Amino acid sequence: AKALRLGIAGLGTVGASVVRLLAKQGNRIAVKTGRAVEVAAVSARDPSRDRGLDLTGATWFTDPVEMAKSDGIDVFVELIGGDNGPAEASVRAALESGKHVVTANKALLAKHGVELAALAEKNGVNLNYEAAVAGGIPIVKTLRESMAGNEIARVYGILNGTCNYILTRMEAEGLSFGECLADAQRLGYAEADPTFDIEGFDTAHKLALLTSLSFGTKISSDDIYVEGITSITTADIQAADELGYRIKLLGVAQRTETGIEQRVHPTMVPKSSAIARIDGVLNAVAVDGDFVGEIVLAGPGAGGNATASSVAADIADIARGDLSPALGVPTAELEDYVRARMRLH
Ligand code: NDP
Ligand code: HSE
Repeated sequence: AKALRLGIAGLGTVGASVVRLLAKQGNRIAVKTGRAVEVAAVSARDPSRDRGLDLTGATWFTDPVEMAKSDGIDVFVELIGGDNGPAEASVRAALESGKHVVTANKALLAKHGVELAALAEKNGVNLNYEAAVAGGIPIVKTLRESMAGNEIARVYGILNGTCNYILTRMEAEGLSFGECLADAQRLGYAEADPTFDIEGFDTAHKLALLTSLSFGTKISSDDIYVEGITSITTADIQAADELGYRIKLLGVAQRTETGIEQRVHPTMVPKSSAIARIDGVLNAVAVDGDFVGEIVLAGPGAGGNATASSVAADIADIARGDLSPALGVPTAELEDYVRARMRLH
């Protein structure tokens, strides 16, 4: 088969790591999938900046929409960010012009995911987004494919690396919230606007995707009760510690008699529980399936390399020719079965 030609839009923390990963592991992906992959085009705002990347052979586009429409690519890899503007315009343009899309953009999918999945279906292309939920953890594949034979009762976990990093360091080192957040930004974990992390919205975006994949419902992030970690103090963390608990920001979605309940809030978890031992930038996701029981996946939830690993997995699926529906079922089959409810405990 001809090489799969990638256009990578966004060469920041994640995009630069994807370029480096493909330089190192491109042959491995080719052997595993039976198809070579090449970076045919790239796009970012500033063409003059030395990014320390070898971009030989890649055509530069300052406008990602133009790259998305170009005949020179087969797959548009969106690593710009934001739920509107160039990310949205370029993803739509790519799908409309018959390009597969790989994205790490949970904000975009939480807002427009159903519509974009329908557009992908209509055009017979993939919309893959493993990197959008829990960074390097393969939870989208797990729900979409590996757990296809289960009815799911509950999905929950630590879904934001920045918040878990902040809470862990405040507890372990007694540092202030602001110092920890600044480090998370320096390390490339935080969103361009870190309010999304610390106010819980990023967790809510990811939870909305997990809910849809788990329960076959339309993505519905507006129905989520959201509380972030900005009011958590070192004194709160110490008080929880004395009672035998740790404070974690959890996203929880579960089936109830009247609908799917979704919520995001800081939670006291017993120190003896597995989730309490998830430290730093790690995330963890637990899923209850009726046949398999509880599955727990843990691993790096943010950072360039871990996220690039998930982007590469999505590219490999396209190279293999896997055309799974983006949300696990065709969009016409998705149900309206979500409602908001305040936290239970
Ligand atoms: P960065 O801010 O590091 O990078 C964004 C990139 O997009 C930059 O290269 C920037 O160009 C480029 N860009 C911005 N606007 C435009 C535009 N109008 N046209 C072309 N290029 C543009 O972001 P991240 O790499 O951290 O995040 C990218 C995406 O991945 C986001 O959706 C984020 O939510 C998601 N994500 C991030 C993770 C992480 O750990 N960082 C983990 C999981 C998902 P320039 O370099 O020239 O400024
Ligand atoms: N800002 C996000 C986080 C990136 O900290 O988890 C990964 O989605």
